[in-house]
Amino acid sequence: MPAMTLPLEHPMSSAIVDDLAQRGWSRQTLFLPAELSRALAADCLRRSAQGELSPAAIGRGDAQAVREAVRGDQTQWLEPGETQACDRYLAVMDSLRLDLNRGLFLGLEDFECHFALYPPGAFYRRHLDRFRDDDRRTVSTVLYLNEAWQPGDGGELRLFLGEQDVLDVAPVAGSLVVFLSGEVPHEVLATQRERLSLTGWFRRRGNEPF
Ligand code: OGA
Ligand code: MN
Repeated sequence: MPAMTLPLEHPMSSAIVDDLAQRGWSRQTLFLPAELSRALAADCLRRSAQGELSPAAIGRGDAQAVREAVRGDQTQWLEPGETQACDRYLAVMDSLRLDLNRGLFLGLEDFECHFALYPPGAFYRRHLDRFRDDDRRTVSTVLYLNEAWQPGDGGELRLFLGEQDVLDVAPVAGSLVVFLSGEVPHEVLATQRERLSLTGWFRRRGNEPF
């Protein structure tokens, strides 16, 4: 009998697996139903109105600092059990984690993610998502939550894919960008409008001693 293969669960999982294997990044429009990305946007705005978002930091541990010249967004980490929309998103991403492990043998162990709100004028300078002293972040994901984004609104994610090769992605509601955290430098261009997203990282087991 042939070995049984497990089905890939999210309809876009196999495209994401193939893209990551071939070129290190993937972009999927309509990754989530419009109704779920609207609920997540409303959740992000409610958190902002309640003062729950904090100016984002860069680095980690002792080196962590808030530097508006580098990034001007405000963030809040998601925890399970907060809202139905967040839990649905975490469930989708956990099934994507399993699909990436099956397809790419990445050994991804968990997913951490935060809401991010960029006020008008905010940006995030070119960077890599993997910390120098912590290489657990393996696959980065950004889900965008902005309805009716127009070309002049700015706020594109710019991926640096090679010497001369850049790709600008507009932060359009329901689309997901996925890339290898240690390999794809990227930046967020200055936004003209308030810009909402859910940014996350699939992480491997760390190599630091416990
Ligand atoms: C990040 C980041 C990209 C985006 O938070 O590390 O690069 O498009 N975000 O929001
Ligand atoms: Mn980043």
